[in-house]
Amino acid sequence: MAYYFEEPSRTFGEYLLVPGYSSSACVPDAVSLKTPLVKYRKGEEECPLTMNIPMVSAIMQSVSGDRLAIALAKQGGVSFIYGSQSVEDEAAMVARVKSYKKGFVTSDSNLKPTATLADVLELKEKTGHSTVAITEDGTPNGKLLGIVASRDYRVSRMSMDEPVANFMTPMEKLVYAPETTTLKEANDIIWDNKINSLPLVDAEGHLKYMVFRKDYDSHKENVNELLDANKSYVVGAGINTRDYAERVPALIEAGVDVLCIDSSEGFSEWQSRTIAWIRERYGDKVKVGAGNVVDREGFRFLAQAGADFIKVGIGGGSICITRETKGIGRGQATAVIEVAAARDEYYKETGIYIPICSDGGIVHDYHMTLALAMGADFVMLGRYFARFDESPTNKLRINGSYVKEYWGEGSNRARNWQRYDLGGATKLSFEEGVDSYVPYAGSLADGVGTTLYKIRSTMCNCGALTIPELQEKARLTVVSSTSIVEGGSHDVILKNNPNN
Ligand code: IMP
Repeated sequence: MAYYFEEPSRTFGEYLLVPGYSSSACVPDAVSLKTPLVKYRKGEEECPLTMNIPMVSAIMQSVSGDRLAIALAKQGGVSFIYGSQSVEDEAAMVARVKSYKKGFVTSDSNLKPTATLADVLELKEKTGHSTVAITEDGTPNGKLLGIVASRDYRVSRMSMDEPVANFMTPMEKLVYAPETTTLKEANDIIWDNKINSLPLVDAEGHLKYMVFRKDYDSHKENVNELLDANKSYVVGAGINTRDYAERVPALIEAGVDVLCIDSSEGFSEWQSRTIAWIRERYGDKVKVGAGNVVDREGFRFLAQAGADFIKVGIGGGSICITRETKGIGRGQATAVIEVAAARDEYYKETGIYIPICSDGGIVHDYHMTLALAMGADFVMLGRYFARFDESPTNKLRINGSYVKEYWGEGSNRARNWQRYDLGGATKLSFEEGVDSYVPYAGSLADGVGTTLYKIRSTMCNCGALTIPELQEKARLTVVSSTSIVEGGSHDVILKNNPNN
């Protein structure tokens, strides 16, 4: 006879934290959000990879490119570059993060000299950047021919068809410098010449980097940035259970710090085979997370298979339709609570602490605090990061509001069928994800800063200065549907309601 779980499975929205005593020492600035990313012998050794904030970005085409990875590492978290692209392209993204030099930006706004003013305006709308590099072939590292900035054109006086070659600042009038220039020298040139950006070129005149005046201060501010021993940003990458023999060596060669098997369902022989292959070849040197699971059995299976961290969550993602199409999954809060208990049980038995990650289904910022209080060591976010400037997707204006595109890995757009592969199939015949828009939310640094402040202040309300302390002290209550209504604004006439 089928097994029935006694309790219904619940989501984050059904819980609240009940505040505890907070002393005067418990202030948001005193809260540490450090958290382990990979397994270690707790109490006996340091975790070999600790994050400064409990956030990682989802292994998705519409979320984790190299630009977002750099922005998130600056804040202290880790991105997992998406694996649903060729081995070469994924390794190149990892290499770009590892070789990123603070203040030296690979230009993301580039056009050929034959492009028009209309193309410049369209690109500016898409990237939000006003400086466009004009290169021979329109690529970020092509031969530099000039720069177009806002001062080079007047929309009211020029034709939209005007080629950029006619109004760019050409090389003979441009201030530029060799690629060997240091950040300090570059900033001095910017100040001395009263310019906003400085292109750096190699001996053949190819554009290597841009240095921007507005970035100067921000490079001194990232107190939480997550760096490896060589002072490069830490970055992760997604792999699948099919082509790991080619993908894993290429990612390691590119300098990746941590891998994660990206799969909708982790309680499978394919995952244990993949981890076994990595262990056979690299021992414990290469760190690899696995998942996703939603119960004790799934956790223990992956723990025994040798996973360095374990991801929790099936069917809760904002773009996910797995529950509707296949009828599998579990409420995210219930899944995290059970897997956290399994992690603690495993730690008691073995002395090995395997961090768990709550993946998907975070709607409000406070859901992250709930996930941590319920035992997650960190959270993986897709929708949340897709909204920022640094995500790799287009920013569009729809009905007067700015949005960014966001699509699931199981949608027809991403075609990441390996993620849903149960062996044998080379292509899936139904979708498990949708293609959507999310409201645009500005820069990652600003958004993450606000979210972390909220998490820190809630932790203070619970009397906790660290994540383990929160997990020990948290008191959670299930809320009734009427008290959820009570929790929003009610019985008042909202001033900004268009229906008033
Ligand atoms: P979100 O933060 O709620 O948007 O959820 C992101 C998570 O959804 C990812 O980390 C994946 O685990 C999961 N996911 C990504 N693409 C799909 C899909 O197409 N179908 C189902 N789940 C997906």
